[in-house]
Amino acid sequence: MNHHFHIITMGCQMNEYDSDLVAQLLLSMGYLPTSDPLEADLILINTCAVRARAEQKAVSILGRVLKQKRRTPDLKVGLMGCVAQQRGGDLFKRFPELDLVLGTREVSRIREHIHSSESRSRVLATELNLQPPASPNASGYFRSRFTAFISIMEGCNNFCTYCVVPFTRGREASRSPDDIVEEAKHLVTEGVREITLLGQNVNSYSYGKEEGQCRFPLLLRKLSSLKELLRLRFTTSHPKDLSDDLIRCFVEIPNLCRHIHLPFQSGSNRILKRMNRGYTREQYIDRVRDLRQAVPSIAITSDVMVGFPGETEDEFMETLDLIRQIEFDNLYSFKYSDRNKTRSSTMSGKIDEWEKSRRLGLLQKTQKEITIRKNKSFKGAVVEVLAEGLSRKGDQLTGKTEGSKIVNFKSDSQLLGHIVKVLIKESSANSLRGECLDSAGGDQIY
Ligand code: 5AD
Ligand code: SF4
Repeated sequence: MNHHFHIITMGCQMNEYDSDLVAQLLLSMGYLPTSDPLEADLILINTCAVRARAEQKAVSILGRVLKQKRRTPDLKVGLMGCVAQQRGGDLFKRFPELDLVLGTREVSRIREHIHSSESRSRVLATELNLQPPASPNASGYFRSRFTAFISIMEGCNNFCTYCVVPFTRGREASRSPDDIVEEAKHLVTEGVREITLLGQNVNSYSYGKEEGQCRFPLLLRKLSSLKELLRLRFTTSHPKDLSDDLIRCFVEIPNLCRHIHLPFQSGSNRILKRMNRGYTREQYIDRVRDLRQAVPSIAITSDVMVGFPGETEDEFMETLDLIRQIEFDNLYSFKYSDRNKTRSSTMSGKIDEWEKSRRLGLLQKTQKEITIRKNKSFKGAVVEVLAEGLSRKGDQLTGKTEGSKIVNFKSDSQLLGHIVKVLIKESSANSLRGECLDSAGGDQIY
């Protein structure tokens, strides 16, 4: 009888990619996926430690899963990802029933670890070696038929003072461009039409030395020439490493989506310095100006946090002011939280939770007005959308614009996997709705 596995994934797209890779490797061992945890013989929880809330959630899910194990002792339970990497063997002290603790760079060795756990009661593997992400060399991507991720580099060398990533994912290591192109080719032959390149800081991607060196813009150029790859995206970029060459890629590469996710974190120079971000407010604004000058329609999204230690009301106002000035297409906003080992966790001037919530509320209200206004301006426009699947209600198709806006539209189901033209009729804070102008003569979806 086949064993079944169930993976719970939290956090970033990097974790989603890692979970897919684990799933493929388990499939190759004869395990079958199940969406019902009660049916599983193996449950893996892929965790995120970037903010305190994510870590608390991981621990509470683990508690719930271990309750299930008490009723069915043959169930194997493993914790993966950043929380596993950071807490390591201590997790066994708090959760003695846990079977596997697998760090962020152990994903590609999952088969070995599962075999060891058959003969040993506990497996702990949290070495942070400097290998780049492994080539999956496997198929059966679950996430979507037409869109996929490729991890091109692992880790981060920046040591922003609030960030746990350099500790949980180690130093930067880039994969070879040949490997990445191979993986992309494989995905395209499986029907994937949009690839998102992933890394903590993709624009510091660099492989090889001297004449043989491949930097990020060259990697983009290599990938963009793949026939049938309709769209190429990447995330995340660091403002201090955004080169003119990369900006030129947006102009010159036709299938590169005109969208950049460029976290700014704070609008105050003093706070940016305390965060060790390596740029000023003025430099950030200049880069956005350069991007918009090169490609006026480019979508710019960002991350920001409120309540960094020592942030005054005036400094918070500078953040609000930057948001109003830039008018981001979308913004992910967070309350600062202390993370283990980070420099900011030992800084003075901690802001209390209530005040952080007040600032976050104000910030989100400011951005929501901007997003609603921007979305309204799409009304009557024709946008290009990659038809990715059925909408949540199942009565329409759904996809994204180049700028990653979600669009739901009535259309022909045969157009799935194609880029179609959609006339936008309605907008809300989170999505656009419209009618498809293309037709393949198939079934109409209402
Ligand atoms: N507290 C709050 N937000 C954080 N982020 C990273 N570390 C922390 C922290 N300690 C946010 C940043 C980053 C995003 C992925 O998470 O905005 O860009
Ligand atoms: Fe963390 Fe800064 Fe690296 Fe991003 S760039 S992963 S915020 S240390």
